Amino acid sequence: MADINYTTLDWELCKKVADLLAICFPDMPIEDQYTQEELEEVAEVFPEGTIVALNGDQVVGMGTGIFTNLNFEQLPMTENELLYKDNEVINHDSNGDYYYGSDMAVHPQFRGRGIGRQIYNRRKAIVTDNNKLGFAAAAVLPGYADYKRTHDIHTYLEMVKRKEVFDSTLSMQMRNGFQVIKPIKDFFTYPQSDNWAALILWENPNLVVDQS
Ligand SMILES: CC(C)(COP(=O)(O)OP(=O)(O)OC[C@H]1O[C@@H](n2cnc3c(N)ncnc32)[C@H](O)[C@@H]1OP(=O)(O)O)[C@@H](O)C(=O)NCCC(=O)NCCS
Repeated sequence: MADINYTTLDWELCKKVADLLAICFPDMPIEDQYTQEELEEVAEVFPEGTIVALNGDQVVGMGTGIFTNLNFEQLPMTENELLYKDNEVINHDSNGDYYYGSDMAVHPQFRGRGIGRQIYNRRKAIVTDNNKLGFAAAAVLPGYADYKRTHDIHTYLEMVKRKEVFDSTLSMQMRNGFQVIKPIKDFFTYPQSDNWAALILWENPNLVVDQS
């Protein structure tokens, strides 16, 4: 396989990135997915917050996010409310305390080759380079589909944490240093897990606290 190159978002990549998301989240309703036009806004407002993996000119991976203030006890009801002001303008605040990762996807034919890890490493660098508190995200839980009838969400998350169950998303995130803060429901539509997700956090290990 040819070498994978990593870049940040630009206007010309937006359609290909939107197409990749449609492949990687086939069950997610259209209103919960980035459209080409929304990605073009991201490319304009905060291009360096999105990492794109390229195999030649094919987009094979992506990870995107914004800077924002977060209160883990009082999150907005939905991810869309977190990402958009008045459902319209992207809610990126360069002074926000956290990098909130809103999407991450690797093309099915390119998974398991470390592309996800590379994208995470580059997004972690966004956090450390900008001295943010950490990198938060809401993780989809594809593996919960096989357990949701028999196990409550807390038990499932414990099993993933203890490595008794492999969840193709959350296990990978834990291997990348994320911890689970809590389960959250109906933050976005994800029928496989009955709309359960996990609020996860990677804390900036290099945080410099301003003492002044
Ligand atoms: C989650 C996703 C982005 C991961 O991308 P990826 O490029 O396959 O990730 P990587 O290859 O970097 O990492 C996969 C890790 O899982 C491990 N892994 C894969 N299958 C495994 C298994 N059955 N048991 C244990 N570990 C396994 C790999 O060894 C690797 O770990 P390592 O980096 O410590 O070696 C990709 O699966 C995806 O796009 N999923 C659909 C969309 C999605 O769920 N996105 C996340 C939204 S929150």
